[in-house]
Amino acid sequence: MKELQARIKQDGQVLGKDVLKVDSFLNHQIDPLLMQRMGEEFYQHFREFPITKILTVESSGIAPAVMTGLAFQKPVVFARKHKSLTLKDDLYVADVYSFTKKTANKISVSRKFLSATDHVLIVDDFLANGQAVAGLTDIIKQADAHLEGIGIVIEKTFQKGRQLIDRQHIPIFSLARIKAFENGQVVFEEE
Ligand code: G4P
Ligand code: NA
Ligand code: NA
Repeated sequence: MKELQARIKQDGQVLGKDVLKVDSFLNHQIDPLLMQRMGEEFYQHFREFPITKILTVESSGIAPAVMTGLAFQKPVVFARKHKSLTLKDDLYVADVYSFTKKTANKISVSRKFLSATDHVLIVDDFLANGQAVAGLTDIIKQADAHLEGIGIVIEKTFQKGRQLIDRQHIPIFSLARIKAFENGQVVFEEE
């Protein structure tokens, strides 16, 4: 998505060797018109899929996920994060380890909001090591629901997440694909 690439070039800040800060439009302040156009892009890509539900994780996945749900006119469910969780039988629970933050979290979704009749599109803001997607995939399996595809706002192709998803042959579509950070500059994969 050209507009997103331009916005990343203009407002993104490269931190260290593998982190992109996009606080001004995605992760802290949110640009709703850009989010809306991103939701439309995901819709155009996945419109032939029989999507019944959009699934993401709080908090930064919610904005692009809601706009995607708006485009599909389908509900959006976000998994909640917990530091720890004693077993609750009304929840699907999965583990997510963050390499970036060096923290282990559990994520959960109420059994009320995901079931075997659902065809799910996962939407998230970043794909790095793929742990959030892996946790959501686990939850979809527990619900016996169908994972139809994955929509990612910003993918870092030099980290492990993409391989993990490709190995399972899940359709994935990323709006911006970053190949590398060079001298503090973002280098995109060819479109
Ligand atoms: P993974 O899910 O792909 O394995 O991601 P990882 O553990 O590496 O990242 C943990 C958190 O950091 C996630 O947010 C993820 O979206 C975010 N993240 C990963 N790479 C980048 C990056 O280059 N820039 C930014 N801004 N964020 C990145 P989270 O902990 O779920 O936090 P939240 O913002 O959704 O609350
Ligand atoms: Na994030
Ligand atoms: Na996220």
